Amino acid sequence: AKRPIIIQGPMPIEAENFAKRLKNVKEEKSGNFVFYKGTLNNYPVIVAKTGKGMENTAAATAIAIEKYKPAAVINQGTSGGHDPSLNVFDIVLGKRTVNLGSLKTPHKESNEGIHPTSWIPMDLMASEGSAGEDPNAEKARYFEGDATLLKAAHAVKEKYTKGKVVEGTIGSADVWNNEVDRIKWFHENFGTSVEEMEGASAAQISKAYNVPFLGIRVLSNNKTNGGQYDPTTAAANQDYVFEVVKKYISMI
Ligand code: 5AD
Repeated sequence: AKRPIIIQGPMPIEAENFAKRLKNVKEEKSGNFVFYKGTLNNYPVIVAKTGKGMENTAAATAIAIEKYKPAAVINQGTSGGHDPSLNVFDIVLGKRTVNLGSLKTPHKESNEGIHPTSWIPMDLMASEGSAGEDPNAEKARYFEGDATLLKAAHAVKEKYTKGKVVEGTIGSADVWNNEVDRIKWFHENFGTSVEEMEGASAAQISKAYNVPFLGIRVLSNNKTNGGQYDPTTAAANQDYVFEVVKKYISMI
C-alpha cells in the first residue's frame, strides 16, 4: 500500500478547508486529535487537526507516524511575521524550523533581575547529558525542511497569487509575542522569518522517525510592519498546500 501524506493544521480554520477537498474521507479520532483520512488523485492523504501548541503537535505527530506510517508530514497554518519585508498573505516555506522556547538563562543572584535578551538558546538534543551544564547545548537546533518537499513547493509557487512564497526560518513556542523589540531579537538571533506554535515540535518528532518534513506557514499578522490579523489567510494557505501535495504525489 502507498504511504499516506499527513497534512497537519492546528485549528479548525487551518485543517477543514483542506479536509473537505479530499475524496472518500473517513474520520478517525485519537485523544483530542482528529484525522481525516481520504484520497487526492487516488493517493492516500490524511489531514490531522492537531490542536494548538507544541505538546498537542508532538503527540499528534507521534500518533500519526505510528498509526499511518506516512511518506511525509507537512505542518501548515498561520503565523506572525518577524521579517518586515514579509506581508500578511505571504507564505514561508520552512527551509529550517527552530524551537524559540528552548532557552537557558545565565546565572543571576537574588535581586539581580530578569534579562530576557541575555538568555541563551539551548539544544535539548545536543547530548544525553544535562543540557543545563553542557556547553555544547548552548545553541539553537534547526530542523531542515525536506529537499523534495521544498522542490514540490517551489514548483507550484506561481499558482499562489495572494502574496509571495519564500524560503525562510519558522520559529515555534507556546508564546505569542507582541513586543516588537523581542520579535526583532528573535529575528536577529535565531534568523526567524515568522513565529507560530507548532512547526518545530512536528519537525523534531518527524526527525526522530526519519519522516520527511516541511513547515508551510502563511502570515496572518505581522507586528513589525503593521500587518493586521486576517484569519482568511488560513484557507489561502491550504489552497496552496493542496497544490504542493498534488505536485509531491507526482514526484514520489
Ligand atoms: N504568534 C504565535 N502564534 C501564531 N499563530 C498565528 N500567528 C501567531 C503569532 N503571531 C498561530 C499559532 C497557533 C495559533 C495561536 O495561531 O501557530 O496555532
